[in-house]
Amino acid sequence: MAPASLSSAHALSLIAPPKTASGRWSRLSVNFAAARPVSIAAATQRRLVAAAAATEMAPAASGEEGKAFVEEMRAVAMRLHTKDQAREGEKEPQAPPVAKWEPSVEGYLRFLVDSRLVFQTLEEIVERAAVPWYAEFRNTGLERSEALKKDLEWFKQEGHTIPEPSAPGTTYASYLEELSEKDPQAFICHFYNVYFAHTAGGRMIGKKVSEKILNKKELEFYKWEGNLSQLLQNVRNKLNQVATSWSREKDHCLEETEKSFAYSGDLLRHIFT
Ligand code: HEM
Repeated sequence: MAPASLSSAHALSLIAPPKTASGRWSRLSVNFAAARPVSIAAATQRRLVAAAAATEMAPAASGEEGKAFVEEMRAVAMRLHTKDQAREGEKEPQAPPVAKWEPSVEGYLRFLVDSRLVFQTLEEIVERAAVPWYAEFRNTGLERSEALKKDLEWFKQEGHTIPEPSAPGTTYASYLEELSEKDPQAFICHFYNVYFAHTAGGRMIGKKVSEKILNKKELEFYKWEGNLSQLLQNVRNKLNQVATSWSREKDHCLEETEKSFAYSGDLLRHIFT
């Protein structure tokens, strides 16, 4: 994960819709669910090997099996990128590269407002911990809603009108609420993807947008207190830990990845439409 080293050719084609006959980018035609099906057979195979190895380890080394699970989540997510977004991507680009975006402050603000709603929802869900082990994911240091609040205040001081959350944000937030009560494994897939995507491609996008429309201002959204790599590793360890008791639930969690891309893609689309 080294967003800073990404080339400017890195596309957002992952989240961008195909062009219509008129040459415009269609809002409605994006369908992540229709993306190349994620093969989880290989992942399952790797997990079996990892699980076998883990049985031979001392309890002190626990986390290895869980670690394998985060690697599986990551592998599934990486396959849903395009090659120009990330080396491990497997999808064909279908949309303009980030470098060709012409973001507006209004569109970016819609993205930030909807993102704040999504992060706030994730934070409230783990705070409430309707499922007791969600409490493991409180105060990870990755939380973004306060940082976004500060950024929105800054935009306001600059004279911009802050919009209300819009459909992509409210729809995703409701879906997360529902999953968190009914389907913890699927919820955790979103939790992982939202937080980790933001620290990778999300940061790269923020840098590009800032260069184009914010005079290179670095928003709080892209700053973390402490060592980000360590914060991410701590969350990986916790994800690994909770997943140790999952068996088929792991596949269920992995299968949710495409939806996670679809919902996040709808938010990102605010930036360039
Ligand atoms: C379209 C914009 C996107 C771009 C340009 C992008 C780019 C990247 C890049 C460059 C990486 C790092 C690859 C590496 O470690 O070598 C990455 C990682 C990742 N991305 Fe994306 N990505 C995008 C959207 C998304 C979306 C929508 C999701 C899911 C909601 C997502 C989920 C992830 C995850 C889970 C990782 C792994 C992070 C880690 O291991 O720390 N990405 N992405």
